[in-house]
Amino acid sequence: MTAAILDGKALASQLREETAEKVARFVGEYQSAPCLAAVLVGDDPASEIYVRNKQRACERAGIESRLHRLPAKTTQDELLSLIAQLNQDTSVHGILVQLPLPKGLDEKQVLDAVHPLKDVDAFHPENVGRIAQGRPRFLPCTPHGIQQLLLRNGIPIAGKHVVVIGRSEIVGKPMAMMLVQRGDGGDATVTVCHSRTKDLRAVTRLADILIVAIGRAKFVTADMVKPGAVVVDVGMNRTEEGLFGDVDFGPVSEVASWITPVPGGVGPLTIAMLLENTVEAARLMRGKEPTG
Ligand code: GUN
Repeated sequence: MTAAILDGKALASQLREETAEKVARFVGEYQSAPCLAAVLVGDDPASEIYVRNKQRACERAGIESRLHRLPAKTTQDELLSLIAQLNQDTSVHGILVQLPLPKGLDEKQVLDAVHPLKDVDAFHPENVGRIAQGRPRFLPCTPHGIQQLLLRNGIPIAGKHVVVIGRSEIVGKPMAMMLVQRGDGGDATVTVCHSRTKDLRAVTRLADILIVAIGRAKFVTADMVKPGAVVVDVGMNRTEEGLFGDVDFGPVSEVASWITPVPGGVGPLTIAMLLENTVEAARLMRGKEPTG
């Protein structure tokens, strides 16, 4: 079997068009654009690229983007004071603090300080709690992108066994919570694997849908995949030999039925969903019901 490609780049472009239409309707109604404030602390080169890409995508969709650059030596109090100022500013609808923060800054305290109604990453405990209870306000960008990629390619999720490798707060945990919920895009049987999982291969071979988010190049090999499984690769590992996902793409694509490439799979969807959340945040500030 040679797997069909799950084309995240094409879907992201379609989603961005859909968001741009929502932005245009918002501007028509309120004569001002949704606005995302991005906070970049320090000079991590990968973060610089991510933030630049997010800003460019905002501008293309008609969303205003404001970048707040702070030096690596910024103190916790200085950063918290900027967040407080952005929370107060009614012209700012979404706040994104690019991670990782430089050493010495308390990431949890900073993310907790973002107002839950402006928390377009869905990292705030109130928003995470709402996801756990099946009444989300914002959905976290990467898991939401993956869910849309499955749904819009007609891949059944209900009743399927989904195995997630990785238990991060950004991808693994929220992904599992979303897929186990009742309703469209949910109703899966979900197993979450991590570094302490015994006989990982035996578990991953049970997966109808295998989602890999552990940040180790080519970690998932063909023998770990059930023939015909759908494989979603969240990894972006820059090595001396080049950029690789967490999945050994060539051999695994001979076993799987569907697979995401790296790049061009999950990555572009993360940004598309950030734009979507920013419009949603703007609508919420105007007292609109979530679009769901
Ligand atoms: N760094 C890596 N991924 C993300 C993300 O989804 N959001 C933020 N804010 N920072 C990140």
